[in-house]
Amino acid sequence: HGPSRRQALIGSAVVGWGAAAALGIDRVATARETPTATGSRTVPFHGRHQTGVTVPPQAHAAHVALDLLPETDLTGIRRMMRLLSDDAARLTQGRPALGDTERELAHTPSALTITFGFGRELVTRAGGPVPDWLSPLPAFEIDRLTEAWSGGDLLLLVAADDPVAVAHAVRMLSKDARQFASVRWVQHGFRNARGSTAPGTTMRNLFGQVDGTVNPAPGTAEFDQLVWHSGGWLDGGTSVVIRRIAMDLDGWDRVARVDREGAVGRRLDNGAPITGTREHDDPDFDAVDERGFPVIAEYAHIRRARSPNVAERFLRRGYNYDDPPPAGQLSDSGLIFVAMQADPVRQFVPVQRRLDDLDLLNEWTTPVGSAVFAIPPGCADGGYIGETLLG
Ligand code: HEM
Repeated sequence: HGPSRRQALIGSAVVGWGAAAALGIDRVATARETPTATGSRTVPFHGRHQTGVTVPPQAHAAHVALDLLPETDLTGIRRMMRLLSDDAARLTQGRPALGDTERELAHTPSALTITFGFGRELVTRAGGPVPDWLSPLPAFEIDRLTEAWSGGDLLLLVAADDPVAVAHAVRMLSKDARQFASVRWVQHGFRNARGSTAPGTTMRNLFGQVDGTVNPAPGTAEFDQLVWHSGGWLDGGTSVVIRRIAMDLDGWDRVARVDREGAVGRRLDNGAPITGTREHDDPDFDAVDERGFPVIAEYAHIRRARSPNVAERFLRRGYNYDDPPPAGQLSDSGLIFVAMQADPVRQFVPVQRRLDDLDLLNEWTTPVGSAVFAIPPGCADGGYIGETLLG
């Protein structure tokens, strides 16, 4: 019997390695990829706020909810958040996590941000105090929620301009969380690829609408007031409402362009209000047509969604989803609707109630998932996310 094929392979590999070493060739001299400006871009991890709230939305995002294992107590939660914060601090800066088994995947962070959120159960197990808004939203008539897309104890919001960076970060974080929590749901979302539209261009959703025009801008007094929570362990933090909203693209296909524009109150070409010409023109809600009917109808989405009370505004950071369709259907598409605000019950809920009462868009949209999380403040180098609650 001669050497087996396996032995032969191992033998030649060893010979090969030995020869390379003899020649002084360094096997790990350089990474294969040369990251571009986009690939090597980093967003700071440390700071007063978690940076995922304010960074211009990246092209790809994974929204991951985990459930704590029954035995995970305050000590476990603290250990988990120390570990995950350390992973996030490294990965967002383009460095492999400790024990990273795919180190090379860390080298193209592509503006990676990792934002953590705490569900009611986590804050309760940690000993609180639990904000009174940190519980499931009230039920709405339009809701067709499934457990599979709702709730969760810990949120990982992982976003980057490169989906490989997102996948790697989610994998590292889930592995390190495994001894404390299990994955409950994952919602992958996308916007236009970085570079396909000019920076600052408002995204389009899969109905083809310009979506996100009226939104508080980070760094303004309005944003600070609407978004950041003040006082207690959440000082400098915020909250997030994640609603998975299915969009009936087949039904929308049958709607004439003029009626599509009427349903929202904005034009499809550039997102301008139908009473104006440019995207950021103020809608004229008082304008009437020759028959005396309001140009922006009573049922139009922007009329219903704009609260007369400016304190009821919030930040929208949604992502499109387009998943494999169930058998017999063409698509399973929609919006991962992400709203951030200091207090969801005082800001988000009144708006959602108005839309529940009347909004023509409801004809083609159905909320199928819903979750609320507290987003703790950021942390300094050496600290960890959640230390103001868990420390
Ligand atoms: C505005 C689409 C769900 C709140 C808009 C606009 C579009 C749009 C095209 C106009 C452009 C803009 O300012 O962004 C959609 C679609 C939805 C959806 C397709 C579901 C799939 C919701 C929900 C809420 C909401 C659930 C809150 C409960 C708002 C607000 C505005 C807005 C606050 C800005 C209104 C203003 O002009 O002041 N939406 N939306 N939307 N939407 Fe939605």
